Amino acid sequence: MEIDVLTLFPEMFESVLASSILRIAAEKQLVRYRLTDIRDYSPDRHRKVDDKPFGGGPGMVLRPEPVFAAVEAVEKFSPTPAYRVLLTPQGEPFDQRLAREFSSRSRLMLICGRYEGFDERVRLGLDVREISIGEYVLSGGEIAAMVVIDAVVRLIPGVLGDETSTAEESFENGLLEYPQYTRPREFRGMTVPEVLLSGDHRRIAEWRHEQSLLRTRQWTKGKHETQRDSKVDRARSRP
Ligand code: 6GU
Repeated sequence: MEIDVLTLFPEMFESVLASSILRIAAEKQLVRYRLTDIRDYSPDRHRKVDDKPFGGGPGMVLRPEPVFAAVEAVEKFSPTPAYRVLLTPQGEPFDQRLAREFSSRSRLMLICGRYEGFDERVRLGLDVREISIGEYVLSGGEIAAMVVIDAVVRLIPGVLGDETSTAEESFENGLLEYPQYTRPREFRGMTVPEVLLSGDHRRIAEWRHEQSLLRTRQWTKGKHETQRDSKVDRARSRP
């Protein structure tokens, strides 16, 4: 997979892409990251990319020309057509299902905004999927883009060891993961549940499944009552 990031702050990505799983994925050549500074495509000799909103109001708006020019130039860096994603607080909620979908693309182009937002013609004139990572406002799309990259890259086949199955993780099967313990058997008065030391694999599997159900029920307390109950009920009726 190729991942292009268009941003006014490419330096924000450097340590994140150079660490842990994201770095390993690039070393294994399962992904290639390319960072592009939108400012390099400013038509202005002062490299200005923003301006005051027509109609007045606070803040600055990202002008359309540098964004279009950057998208069109970056598109040509590779023969693979890019799936374009615009990161904004108004976007479609990003979730595990979208992460799976994105992980099957050959090339993603993540376009990060700053200031009070993009000129509306970016949304109208570029074919983009608009994504938000949650119901809060970030000062720019960069941190959101890093969240998307992390969630997507770890799902590319071969990135995690074969022994790690992402199919059984939280949010994939509708249930949250069960609690994990390692050594020591006792820590500050808290002990490892006896069943995990029993060696009885059937009992262990049953205990873990029950814990997953409990966590899922706790997690959705209140808000998604109907959805939660049906999730737990469906999981209970599975063998
Ligand atoms: Cl993708 N961008 C910004 N600026 N704020 C956000 C967001 C994105 N997702 C949630 N809040």
